[in-house]
Amino acid sequence: MSALTTLPAWRALWNHFARARDWHLRELFAADPGRAERYWLEVEGLTLDYSKNRLSDQTLTLLLQLADEVGLPAKIDAMFNGEKINRTEQRAVLHVALRNRANTPMLVDGVDVMPKVNAVLERMGRFAHAVRVGEWLGYTRQPITDIVSIGIGGSDLGPLMVCQALRPYGHPRLNMHFVSNVDGAQLKETLRRVHPETTLFIIESKTFTTHETLTNAHTARDWFLKYARDEAAVAKHFVAVSTNKQAVAEFGIDPANMFEFWDWVGGRYSLWSAIGLPIMLYLGEQNFVELLDGAHGMDTHFQSAPLAENMPVMLALVGIWYINFYGGGSHVIAPYDQYLHRLPAFIQQLDMESNGKQTMLDGAPVDFETAPIIWGETGINGQHAFFQLLHQGTHTTPIDLIASLENTSSLPGHHEILLANVFAQAEAFMRGKTADEVRAELAAQGLEGDALEALVPHKVFGGNRPTNTLLMTRLDPRNLGALIALYEHKIFVQGVVWHINSFDQWGVELGKQLAKTIHGELSGTREAAEHDSSTARLISLYKKVNGE
Ligand code: F6P
Repeated sequence: MSALTTLPAWRALWNHFARARDWHLRELFAADPGRAERYWLEVEGLTLDYSKNRLSDQTLTLLLQLADEVGLPAKIDAMFNGEKINRTEQRAVLHVALRNRANTPMLVDGVDVMPKVNAVLERMGRFAHAVRVGEWLGYTRQPITDIVSIGIGGSDLGPLMVCQALRPYGHPRLNMHFVSNVDGAQLKETLRRVHPETTLFIIESKTFTTHETLTNAHTARDWFLKYARDEAAVAKHFVAVSTNKQAVAEFGIDPANMFEFWDWVGGRYSLWSAIGLPIMLYLGEQNFVELLDGAHGMDTHFQSAPLAENMPVMLALVGIWYINFYGGGSHVIAPYDQYLHRLPAFIQQLDMESNGKQTMLDGAPVDFETAPIIWGETGINGQHAFFQLLHQGTHTTPIDLIASLENTSSLPGHHEILLANVFAQAEAFMRGKTADEVRAELAAQGLEGDALEALVPHKVFGGNRPTNTLLMTRLDPRNLGALIALYEHKIFVQGVVWHINSFDQWGVELGKQLAKTIHGELSGTREAAEHDSSTARLISLYKKVNGE
């Protein structure tokens, strides 16, 4: 048995669960008019209503006891103190230093990283300014109109999500493009829309060894040179963001055009670093700094607020309650905001790549569930697609409904309808609709007898489906920074409870290794390797279709 499952709080939670499993949210609300007021937190520009969850004061007391028993406060300090908590890679985890707006020293191996962080931020600011005001010119002395960011995973999703989320703040001359897929279609379609003389490529890769990114980067460079016919022109159109100077130089990008970050920044936590260069180019330095400010506000709260009032901690513990006691499953991210349409994909990587683990820090296998399957879509579209299953299917899936209160960008009348749907869905998931309510409704429509009774079971909603409602005052850089940091810390807390390393990702390596071998076989640069019969047949089918 793992240390976690023998903790007193864990055992007490199981005993408590034996009673709690039969609770219905409708009854919890009816019995407790003060519920929403108590299960409510406001931090930075964010409000979290977690009252529509199957829990009581007792549940929270036990979950907080669990946080205490796993030593959460000390673990939070360890991260902020630059300890090498990413043990399998012997690395500190200090994305919080990238947005440390207080500029207090943050140490890795006894050395303050803040001077380096500030220096890169300043360089990014100067570069972004030059591009934005038209001082940085292409090789034919034309201002940049299109920025193509080439990266994948953590070197793509963060900048992509933020640039789309904050589009109303974007520079009117700059068109942003993101290429991640090695399927040539994405790059081809992008290159069709841009001109070599006015396009800036940012090659984003922590390791600068990622096959997909380097392939896209080489193709983009060839495309550019085919037009420019001048190697010297590359410097005006290609910059790199990486931790790997040597590989950047080998690729042919002048290190003077490289923006650096460090191994203590995890890929999926890197949008605050130079990886955020596309964000700064599009939104400007001031807005990028606001994004950092919002995240820093959440960091300060996370570090200092008592656990019971700590938004990331409470969000994490409520999650633990479902994942470990109600039983695994999945978790939906439903932003009610078109600009946030890539947020589910971003949080999916953040959570599943961080906590999709089955081995604890001591090397022992877990004997409990870890990360849920994160999925989602803009809420309003989801309502007309998969919400049917969420309301009446056989799974109980916790849902985060995310929206902004102020209407900053929508057309007149639209925002009200949108927010009405957020609140209605949260209410519907909680209350459901009883058979008696259905009967009364059908009778009012003139139905009776067998026809009425036959319909009743189909129209009943069980309700009791948990939601968190997460509201931003408005979707602006500061609040978005706080929102992203909230999820980062939530995921960290869950990793602490599960005693896993949230900051490595060995699970993606095997596929990469095998793809290298198979690529050699498909391209004819290596002999056929030994494969199972299925893989061998797939390879030979490919070769047949491609005339080999
Ligand atoms: O394969 C997974 C991964 O390593 C992610 O963790 C990372 O964000 C992505 O690939 C890209 O890696 P890099 O920035 O080194 O190109």
